[in-house]
Amino acid sequence: MTAAASANALGQPLRPPHARIPPDVACAADYERHAIHHIEAMAWHHIQGGTDQGLTLAGNRAAFDQWHLSPRPLADLRGGHTRRSLLGHALAHPLMAAPVAYQRLAHPAGELACVQGAMAVQAGFIASTLSSHPLEAIADAASGIADGGPLWFQLYSQPERAQTLALLRRAESAGYSAIVWTIDASIKRSGFALPPGVEAANLHGIVPLRQTSHAGQSRIVLGTPLADAAPTWDELDWLRAQTRLPLLVKGWLPPPQARMAVERGVDGLVLSNHGGRVLDGMPSPLMLLSGVREALPSTPLLVDGGVRWGTDVVKALALGADAVMIGRPLLHALAVAGALGVAHLLHLMRTELELAMAQLGCATLDQVGPDVLSRPGVWPTR
Ligand code: FNR
Repeated sequence: MTAAASANALGQPLRPPHARIPPDVACAADYERHAIHHIEAMAWHHIQGGTDQGLTLAGNRAAFDQWHLSPRPLADLRGGHTRRSLLGHALAHPLMAAPVAYQRLAHPAGELACVQGAMAVQAGFIASTLSSHPLEAIADAASGIADGGPLWFQLYSQPERAQTLALLRRAESAGYSAIVWTIDASIKRSGFALPPGVEAANLHGIVPLRQTSHAGQSRIVLGTPLADAAPTWDELDWLRAQTRLPLLVKGWLPPPQARMAVERGVDGLVLSNHGGRVLDGMPSPLMLLSGVREALPSTPLLVDGGVRWGTDVVKALALGADAVMIGRPLLHALAVAGALGVAHLLHLMRTELELAMAQLGCATLDQVGPDVLSRPGVWPTR
């Protein structure tokens, strides 16, 4: 990196990751506050940013904050736990590391450290197609930790189906236990250029389709190879036929599309607006949860976008999610203290979750239902 590129977003020299957890870190927001010192300025803006005005990004947080939680005092909490079964996995708790590209932007060991941190506290980890270490090396790093959480692979469709299939086969051979097909990010604007030393380690030899735009260009998005190659129902049918692994679809899936996906053989859904990084002005996927849960009572449902506190996890579960995914906070913790930071972050969030469950009188995740929620100004029902 050049000298200018090694400044952080505060214009100060980059700080290396700590070998121990800073003593004043007690929640995800503390990791974010520290992380700005450890991440190069352009990478920081890329990680933190949302599309256009950032309405979707801000809305993801606001959607959690509009709910109140109603405690249920004097409940019997004996024998309580946070275990849950999901797609054949026995989860110790419902926190998973979302697929996040290019984790070397936050720490030289990138995904290798992040997966180890997640596995050490039995959290699931979803490796991105755009990982900055090869998917095989990530699986290898995960395998060193006994009793870790599930390891899944997030698949982005490639310009040629043969290239997509080759990625899928690599993930199967490396031992990933589910495929998460992300459908919402093939067309998005990004001016971010990867710094030297960070690359799409799984995609050697594949030339990505990119949106370019300059005045006088007759086709900008529509009618270009980029738009023509966007994921379709037809591609979902093709993908479903290619693998016996559980297949999840990640993106904006309102009840009609969610039902159609399941009818076509999809095993689970990740309701997401990509952390506010695609279309600006979208609602939070939290808003989809109860409708999709009603339409699909037994389909594994995950949600992400703005999950920062254990109380957010409770709210998502109360609205019908089986588990949640965490995005940006992983990079913050990774930048501050590597694998240790990631494990600590997830431990803090699990602790917050259990504290909230205990206050709410819920001994198990199954007891976290819509009755724990109320709206400001509306009398709680419990
Ligand atoms: C992402 N996300 C993402 N999703 C995906 O399916 N594949 C990917 O490669 C990436 N890459 C990526 C990079 C960065 C820097 C961010 C912040 C996000 C989206 C991610 O999986 C998740 O949907 C959101 O990050 C969730 O929102 P929060 O927790 O970041 O608010």
